[in-house]
Amino acid sequence: MNSPDNMPSVTQRPSGGPLEGRCFLSVLDFEAGDLEHSLLLSAALKRDRTLGKEAPTAAALQGTYVALLFEKPSLRTRSTFEIAIRELGGNFIDPSADVALGKRESLADVGRSLERWVAGAVVRTYEQSRITDLALATNTFRVINALSNEEHPCQAIADCMTLKEQWGDTVGRTVAFVGDGNNVATSFTQAAVMLGINVRVASPEGFELPARVDEDVNRIGQQGAGLTRFRDPIAAVKNVDAIYTDVWTSMGREAEVEARKKLFAPYQVNEELMSYAKRDACFLHCLPAHRGEEVTDGVMDSSASVVFDQAENRLHTQKALLVMLFED
Ligand code: CP
Ligand code: NVA
Repeated sequence: MNSPDNMPSVTQRPSGGPLEGRCFLSVLDFEAGDLEHSLLLSAALKRDRTLGKEAPTAAALQGTYVALLFEKPSLRTRSTFEIAIRELGGNFIDPSADVALGKRESLADVGRSLERWVAGAVVRTYEQSRITDLALATNTFRVINALSNEEHPCQAIADCMTLKEQWGDTVGRTVAFVGDGNNVATSFTQAAVMLGINVRVASPEGFELPARVDEDVNRIGQQGAGLTRFRDPIAAVKNVDAIYTDVWTSMGREAEVEARKKLFAPYQVNEELMSYAKRDACFLHCLPAHRGEEVTDGVMDSSASVVFDQAENRLHTQKALLVMLFED
């Protein structure tokens, strides 16, 4: 890659971390330095996007094929990976889920075959173990988690970029995640504490963040950042710098939708709940949003809402990730 002085070079990435491996299956594959580096690179890529073919990274993936393997619907993740790969000069293939995700043959054999033609895969599926199995079955294949039941790490990097754009320094800030302790909440918590952000999570009984996230936070939290769990959403959002929510029913859980609507009703992010946060607090949502359920129109469309900045930043952060993982 042609790296001008103002573009962080991939070779400047802190060495020795787990990302020295070839996959991004979890935020935990990043060390704090990797996350900081990816955010610097993302900001440079965002700034340089207007340069088009003259951008320093326009040929970063030249001659590289990437497979997009999606078992669940996607607008933002799929579109931004397609655009990112093209803007980096690469190509993608898009085999249909019925042939590519282990129904016709084992996932391991899918991976071993794909590895002979393409450099890596972006995978959206159900259990996280399916993505890990694919990565383990191959030797050189780069694998990126584009959402599993348990984690959504690409979303978390875009969330961090959005918060950095809002605040500059993130250390000592506090974000409340209100709702299901799901894939988005897990990855966001892991990434946020790496940036020194305190995270509060308010969930109904039975829908808390997995217990293992406390251990992750103790290990990876920077500058004293920690995780506090709440049952009461009002207590969780008092005086916070941002409120984050996600759908009450994630993909694959559709059978529970009616029961969840009742349980999660007190966790709606509405104008009243926002009023307990700091006056200039922002509102985050990974999207798609179910307006009138986990969030009201008034909050989604307010000046506090940065949800479409998050959506935009999926592109820049995934471009940075592709450069970091795929460029030789
Ligand atoms: N936030 C997110 O991952 O959106 P999609 O499901 O549309 O990809
Ligand atoms: N938690 C949601 C996120 C969608 C981007 C889901 O898994 O369906």
